[in-house]
Amino acid sequence: MLKHLPTFRFLLALMLFSACLSSAEGMRPVHARRAMVASVHELASQTGADTMRAGGNAVDAAVAAGFALAVVHPAAGNLGGGGFLLLRLANGEVHFLDFREKAPAKASAGMYLDAKGNVIPQASQIGYRAVAVPGSVAGLVEAQRRWGKLALKQVMEPAIRLARDGFALRYTDAHALRDELLAQFAESKRIFQRNGNYYEQGEIFRQPELARTLERIAQDPDDFYHGALARELAAAIQQGGGLISTDDLANYKVVERRAVRGTYRGYQVISAPPPSSGGVALLETLNILEGYDLHALGSRSAKSIHLTVESFRRAFFDRAEFMSDPDFTPVPVAQLIDKQFAARWRESIDPVRATPSDSLKRPKFEALDQLASTRAPMAVREGGNTTHLSVVDPQGNAVAMTTTLNDSFGSRVTVPGLGFLLNDEMDDFTVKPGVANLYGLIQSAANAIAPNKRPLSSMTPAIVLKDERLFLVLGSPGGATIISTVANIIMGVIDFGLDIQQAVNAPRFHQQWVPDELRLEKFGFSPDTLPLLSNGGYELKQTGYWGDAECIAVDPRTGDRLGASDGRNGGRAIGF
Ligand code: DON
Repeated sequence: MLKHLPTFRFLLALMLFSACLSSAEGMRPVHARRAMVASVHELASQTGADTMRAGGNAVDAAVAAGFALAVVHPAAGNLGGGGFLLLRLANGEVHFLDFREKAPAKASAGMYLDAKGNVIPQASQIGYRAVAVPGSVAGLVEAQRRWGKLALKQVMEPAIRLARDGFALRYTDAHALRDELLAQFAESKRIFQRNGNYYEQGEIFRQPELARTLERIAQDPDDFYHGALARELAAAIQQGGGLISTDDLANYKVVERRAVRGTYRGYQVISAPPPSSGGVALLETLNILEGYDLHALGSRSAKSIHLTVESFRRAFFDRAEFMSDPDFTPVPVAQLIDKQFAARWRESIDPVRATPSDSLKRPKFEALDQLASTRAPMAVREGGNTTHLSVVDPQGNAVAMTTTLNDSFGSRVTVPGLGFLLNDEMDDFTVKPGVANLYGLIQSAANAIAPNKRPLSSMTPAIVLKDERLFLVLGSPGGATIISTVANIIMGVIDFGLDIQQAVNAPRFHQQWVPDELRLEKFGFSPDTLPLLSNGGYELKQTGYWGDAECIAVDPRTGDRLGASDGRNGGRAIGF
C-alpha cells in the first residue's frame, strides 16, 4: 500500500489542480495567443475557432458560428430573424452591416389594434402576423461574400452537420424547449417538443428539415429571397395569416451603414448606428460619465452607481424621443453624441440625489430643441431573446455580431417543412401611442409601424480601440438592458481596472428613464450600498440576472486574445 503513496499523492494533487481549474473557469478570461470566439454555446464557439484553424478569418468564423447558433440555440440563434454585424479589419477599416428585419409592405400603423383602437393582446408577439421580413440569411451571406476567405459551403458545413446528426442538449437547452407558447404551433411542438414528449438533458436533438434548409442556402443563397425557398416561406406565412409576400422577400436589402464613433477617456468606441439606438445611447452615457472620476468612487459604490444611473436615465430619455429607422426619419446622431451636449446634461445631475424621471428636462441644445417638441413618446415592450458573439482572428480582424428573434423562440412559429423559427420583431415597433407595456420602454412616434420600415433596436455590438489598436470586442442580448450592460463592461475595464471576465461577471444595474426604477441583479451588490441608494431617492427593483455578454479583450502588451463568456448562461470562449 505504502509503495503506492506517491502515485496516490500525485493523483490527489491532480484532482485538486483540476478542481481549481474548473472553479477558476468563468472567473478569469480564457487566454489564447492568436484567435478567440466567445458565444453563448460551446458548439458555436468551437465551430468559429475550427473555421479559423482551417484558414478562415474572423468573418468566416462569425458566419460559421452564426449559422451554428441557428441550430444549437433555437431560442435566439436564427435564420428567421435579423441582426447587426460590426467588423473592424486589421487594417483599421470599419464596416457595419444592418440586416435588421423589415415590416412587410402590407404592414400599417394600426395593425395590432382592434376596432376600438385597443391593442390586441400578443398580436405583435405571437403567431404569423408578428413576423417581420427576416434579414439574417442575407446578412450572413453578404458578410461572407464580401470579407470571408472561405467558400460559403465550407463555412456552413458545421451547422448542417449539427442539424443533421444532432447534438447533445444541455440542461438549459432542454428546459428552454419546454416553452409553453411553442406548443401552440403544431410544427414547433413537433420539432422542439417531440409532440409533448419533452427532450431531456443529454438527449441528441436532430433537425433534419433545418439541415435541408441550410443545405439549400449553402447551395444557392439567393434561393431564400428569390427562389423556391422564398416561395415556400411566403406561402407558409400567408397560409398562417401573416403578411409577408414573395415581393417582400425579393425586396429585402442588407444596408451598410456608417458605425457611430466616439471616445471615452481617450479610448475610441465604435458601435451600432440607427436603426439601433445602442451605439448612440452608449456614447451619450459615456460622454456624460467622462466628467466624473469614477475610478476614485469605486466599482459598484453607491456614488458611482448613482452617477451612472443618472447618465443612463438621460440617454434613455433622448432615445425615447429621437430614435427610429433613419431611412424614414432623420435621427440627430451627431448632436446626441456631442460632448458639449453631454456636458449640459451633466449640469442637471444632482451629486447625491436621483432626478425623478418625470421632472427631467432636456438642456437647450440647438438642433435638438426644434425636433423635440414635435415628437410624442410612445410605449413599446421588448422581448426576451437575442444572442451576441465576438471574434478576433490571428490577423487582428474583429467581429461583434448581435442577432435576434426578439422574444425567446420569436413568434413561436416554425415554418412547416423548413425547420426554422420566425421572429416577432414587429413588436419592436411602437404598437400604440402612450400605452404602457410589459417592459415599459418608451419610444417616439418616429418608431410607428410603416411598410418596409425597420423597427428600432437596442442591440449594441461594440468595438473599443486603445491607441488606435484593437482592445475590446463586446455585446450582449437583453433588450434595453443591452445598452447598460455594454456600458458597464466598458467602464469596468477602463474606469475600474477589471479584466474583461471580471467586467462581464460584475453585477449589473439598469435604468431606462421609464419606468422610474433602478433595476439591480439580485446577487453581488454590497448590502450597505442598497440603503444608500434608497436614501438617495431611488426605487430599487432587484431581479435575478440578465444579459449574456460574450466579449474579447486584446492584451495591449502581449497581443493575447482574452475571451470572456458570460457565466450567467453557460456560454464558452474558445481560442487557440
Ligand atoms: O432589437 C432589439 O433591441 C430587441 N429585439 C432585442 C431583444 C433582446 O435582446 C431580448 N434578449 N434578451
